Amino acid sequence: MSVSILVGSQWGDEGKGKVVDILSSKYEVVVRYQGGANAGHTIEIGDKKYVLHLIPSGILREGVICVIGNGVVIDPQALLDEIKFLNDQGIETKDRLFISHNAHLIMPYHKLLDKIEESGANKIGTTGRGIGPCYKDKYDRRGIRLVDLLNRTELERKIRQNLEEKNNVLKKLYQHEELDVEAIIQEYCDFDAKIDSYITDTTSLLHKAMEQNKSVLMEGAQGALLDVDHGTYPFVTSSSPTSGGACTGTGIPPTKIDSVIGIVKAYTTRVGNGPFPTELHGDEEEKLRKLGAEFGATTGRPRRVGWFDSFLVRYSRMINGIERVAITKLDVLSSFSEIKVCIGYEFEGKELKYFPTDNVKLSSVTPIYEVLPGWNCDITEVKNFNDLPKQAKDYLAFISEKCGFEISIISVGPKRSQTIEL
Ligand code: IMP
Repeated sequence: MSVSILVGSQWGDEGKGKVVDILSSKYEVVVRYQGGANAGHTIEIGDKKYVLHLIPSGILREGVICVIGNGVVIDPQALLDEIKFLNDQGIETKDRLFISHNAHLIMPYHKLLDKIEESGANKIGTTGRGIGPCYKDKYDRRGIRLVDLLNRTELERKIRQNLEEKNNVLKKLYQHEELDVEAIIQEYCDFDAKIDSYITDTTSLLHKAMEQNKSVLMEGAQGALLDVDHGTYPFVTSSSPTSGGACTGTGIPPTKIDSVIGIVKAYTTRVGNGPFPTELHGDEEEKLRKLGAEFGATTGRPRRVGWFDSFLVRYSRMINGIERVAITKLDVLSSFSEIKVCIGYEFEGKELKYFPTDNVKLSSVTPIYEVLPGWNCDITEVKNFNDLPKQAKDYLAFISEKCGFEISIISVGPKRSQTIEL
């Protein structure tokens, strides 16, 4: 039995979908532990492209059991759309997908408030999927969970109670029209009818699987620098994508975890607002975004792009306990004659010893770069590490040494087949 955690090591969009898909062939259970439909995991198999937001990409491997853990927040419509999409592709979800009864539900007022709050002074650049307001209600102990769907009286009571307050806020604070209580109750009852058979006590299910010596992969969404505690607060998501979040988001204790695998993009991207020391502007920015097809899988927004930041990833390795990594999108750098890697930051004339998560400080640092030669050739068909050009191998060795981890997977294109395993 092995239990591993897979984390995004930067600001999300590192290519977790593809890596989970590759690793799923070695695991029997894949469980997602936080976030919601703000994530977008893209997987290309043959000539088919799958974009998943909530369901772990392990669902694309026959026989793999997929779990949505208690730490995830669930948008009913997004979930139903995804189940339908998979079923239409001939991928079975019955008896393969299990959703925690303790997971919280995203309600229509969460999505609405997310959008309204974003139009105010505190602009985070959220995905507008209701994530922050839903987690807010969870910690405020007024959230509605999947288990509530199983008890209609309780469900109705909770929706009415919540809506009384939310409608008050919508009307008095935001001069917005009230939401229709009866329609929402009906909507969630209809959802229950379709989703009931997937809801279960996933904590017990996962422990039973481990007792049976099954291997479990715990999949995080977003990335470590978007972690509400360890990320670039306030420009973060409202959950814990770091490896620590895997335990609370699933009920699997730390003593069961064997390894933490990091996913690292060969350069850096960020969506939404907040500091980004190695961000590119102008022609190089356009070139990198275009080559990397850096547009959000969930919102379609152009992602901000920049050079690889080993100072940031080293911090990420430290807080996550990452031992080995999968490097993704190495092929995207193939046409750059020089590639920069950030190896540290200067702040007020001094080199910093530690990565500053403080938003104001991080906004004023100057990155210190090392310039490496590019390889200037196509690597998308390379299958063995030894066949990579010397400059690409040197680039990987450099970032591996600077960040302090081993590289075990290299992705040189979006397809399953474009993967080098070491
Ligand atoms: P929220 O998670 O929608 O509340 O957004 C908070 C911040 O996290 C924003 O900067 C989003 O762009 C960012 N974010 C949320 N989900 C993802 C993701 O899957 N990839 C990259 N950034 C994300």
